[in-house]
Amino acid sequence: MGLLVRFILLLSLLIIISALNVFPEKFRFGEKHTTIILDCKTNKNSVTWKREEAHGTVDVDSEYEKPNGTKLIVYDLQEDQTGNYTCWSDEGLEDYIYLLLDKSKEASDLNLNCTAETFSCAHSLKCSWTLDDYTAFRLRNTRDHGSWVSPSVDGVFHVPHTTNSFSEESERLRITGEAVSSCCYIKTDYSVYLRDIVKPAGPNITKCLQRKNKEKVEVVVTPPSTWPQPHSFFPLKHQTEYEIRDNGKFKTHEWEGSKVEIQGVITKLRVRCRDPLLLSQWSEWTPWKNVQDNKKGKRSKAKKKNTKTRNQRKKGRKNQQ
Ligand SMILES: *[C@@H]1O[C@H](CO)[C@@H](O)[C@H](O)[C@H]1NC(C)=O
Ligand SMILES: *[C@@H]1O[C@H](CO)[C@@H](O)[C@H](O)[C@H]1NC(C)=O
Ligand SMILES: *[C@@H]1O[C@H](CO)[C@@H](O)[C@H](O)[C@H]1NC(C)=O
Ligand SMILES: *[C@@H]1O[C@H](CO)[C@@H](O)[C@H](O)[C@H]1NC(C)=O
Repeated sequence: MGLLVRFILLLSLLIIISALNVFPEKFRFGEKHTTIILDCKTNKNSVTWKREEAHGTVDVDSEYEKPNGTKLIVYDLQEDQTGNYTCWSDEGLEDYIYLLLDKSKEASDLNLNCTAETFSCAHSLKCSWTLDDYTAFRLRNTRDHGSWVSPSVDGVFHVPHTTNSFSEESERLRITGEAVSSCCYIKTDYSVYLRDIVKPAGPNITKCLQRKNKEKVEVVVTPPSTWPQPHSFFPLKHQTEYEIRDNGKFKTHEWEGSKVEIQGVITKLRVRCRDPLLLSQWSEWTPWKNVQDNKKGKRSKAKKKNTKTRNQRKKGRKNQQ
């Protein structure tokens, strides 16, 4: 095969593949070996059919693709019969429809999951879904009759829901996913209670103070802004991980409510939260926060030490120059 021909083939293949980075406006799908009838929307009595393939457009009229009036009957569907079908009259293009092979039954691990930062329907579910060899994806909240949602640039689907956070959730969410590639189609359903996928956003550390002359750190946190109110009705459990100043070891402590006192002299800490009633997933950790030292004597000592090392470093740099 000539280089140029190969290049053109590759190029047109790329064009075909990149064509399905979004869902085709009109498509049909069928399982392997089934018969599919494509219907041309036209006021003509008969049309001719063509299919766009990697190396151009082909006429379709064979044992396995029989035109009949304005219809095309596709028998024993196989992957090589997928593609964009166009129907033509003597006046030109009348209609088109993309035919895909349905592989939903072959797919095993669909890897679709969602989390919710809150019970409130003021915030969408965050879902992720990837599947090798597929190029366009969309999700829909079927329980709440939602419309299709495409992923945002970071690959996250923001799927709205209408769950009432104050009453017992009686019906599972049903999230329907569809994925397409240039040949194939997959549909899946993911069904879950909102309460089972709650993962709060990270809390805010509003105070983190070493108590004067005491080996205690006072910590105050506020719930993430997306957490539903009143907070007495939707409590949060917190966990902190902290570093002991003397030995650099890390410890954890758990408590409910916004305030806590942690024993010890601590350099830094971070906090995460979860719903204690549902035992929800933990939120992400907050960034590490340095403990503010209120103990003047100790503070200045530590400062002196720091100044010294900083001066030493400065000197070192001078010597190098
Ligand atoms: C299919 O062909 C029609 C007519 O040429 C075109 O408008 C449409 O964008 C094509 N669809 C895809 C997904 O290639
Ligand atoms: C077209 O369809 C009609 C009705 O289903 C059938 O009677 C006829 O035989 C078909 N024609 C061809 C050419 O297959
Ligand atoms: C989704 O769930 C699967 C299986 O439970 C897991 O392997 C995968 O890491 C999850 N993905 C995300 C983004 O949570
Ligand atoms: C933390 O507090 C700041 C300022 O009060 C606010 O802008 C931010 O949204 C809060 N973060 C969270 C996770 O609630």
